[in-house]
Amino acid sequence: MRNIYCLLSLLFIFPLKIHSAIDPEEPLAKLWRPVRRSIATLKSSFNEIKNLAYQIRPQDLSLFIDIRNNQIEVRYRNKRGNNVEFFAAIGKFNPIFVKANSSSTNCAPTSAPARNKRQSQILKRRNINSLLLCGDGIFNVDSNRGCSLGFYASDKSDENLNFIVTAGHCFDWTIENNPQLFYSRPWNENTGKRIGLMPKNPSNIYDYGLINITDNKGIITPSIRNTDHQYSELIIEGGRVLSSIGVHICKSGRTSHVNCAYVIGFGGIHVDTRSNILEDFIVADNSGIFDCKGDSGGPTYSYLEDLQKVTLNGIISGSIDTLSHIVPLDIILKEAGLDLIKVNSLIVNR
Ligand SMILES: *[C@@H]1O[C@H](CO)[C@@H](O)[C@H](O)[C@H]1NC(C)=O
Ligand SMILES: *[C@@H]1O[C@H](CO)[C@@H](O)[C@H](O)[C@H]1NC(C)=O
Repeated sequence: MRNIYCLLSLLFIFPLKIHSAIDPEEPLAKLWRPVRRSIATLKSSFNEIKNLAYQIRPQDLSLFIDIRNNQIEVRYRNKRGNNVEFFAAIGKFNPIFVKANSSSTNCAPTSAPARNKRQSQILKRRNINSLLLCGDGIFNVDSNRGCSLGFYASDKSDENLNFIVTAGHCFDWTIENNPQLFYSRPWNENTGKRIGLMPKNPSNIYDYGLINITDNKGIITPSIRNTDHQYSELIIEGGRVLSSIGVHICKSGRTSHVNCAYVIGFGGIHVDTRSNILEDFIVADNSGIFDCKGDSGGPTYSYLEDLQKVTLNGIISGSIDTLSHIVPLDIILKEAGLDLIKVNSLIVNR
């Protein structure tokens, strides 16, 4: 009995010993792994960098915590203007500075795989071109610029008030017009119909905007356009809060249509060319060309087990070469007091 007891305690002690043989803080650990900074340390450094961004107002760069590499990344385009002072001020937090390549990306949509031809012919008969799906194009007539439709939503306290959610910068702040008028611009078409008006978004830290379609409810379609592929319409079953690094997400947008990427960070910040600071982005790896000009506002989603059904998790804001910025769905719904219109909530009178 005693012998067995001894054996057992050996078994328990032995693995512990192995584990503690290489202390992560020991010099030996440095040989095969960089010194780890705790998430709490990274977060507090990140907050201080953020405060400095508000004080110094750099331009045209992104900041996020790269959990995989245990560092704060600054992705910038140039070292001009206030960027000089900003970079010097944040140096003490040891971020990694990465210069963005001025990209000449190929933003043409990927073509449909040949094996799905028969299926797409069947689906074509349903004539989805007459619908305005999430991911379809929308066009700001006042500023003459295109974006993509994110999703349909209704006011939390009055479900008869309906909106299209898209990126906030689809409202042109450089012109006086308020509200601004939007028309539809379906994929591969150059004309469309009147959709509704977008007033200037009161939130200037989250990149979303609302087009009021209360007088145009007939267009509401809680599906995502995916015309190039097997299922031309992806059904929105609901929304989801993303919280894990490495998750696979996809997007639909007018310019580059449907493609997918991996989540590499949360809480990212983007400072635009006019030093406006936008916060709380999900950051995705855009090396597979996740978004292009005109895809702004398009929905991001994850497939469910049934590949024709998806859950929504945000909208595309933009990118700085290989970093894509996504506005989280939960932030938009909470900030704007909205409910997502999904497949089962379609009780609108048409
Ligand atoms: C920019 O391009 C160079 C050369 O192609 C490449 O090595 C580098 O990783 C790129 N930088 C980024 C941030 O993608
Ligand atoms: C949206 O439009 C409706 C109908 O024109 C109007 O009653 C409502 O006040 C508008 N809501 C917002 C938030 O603009």
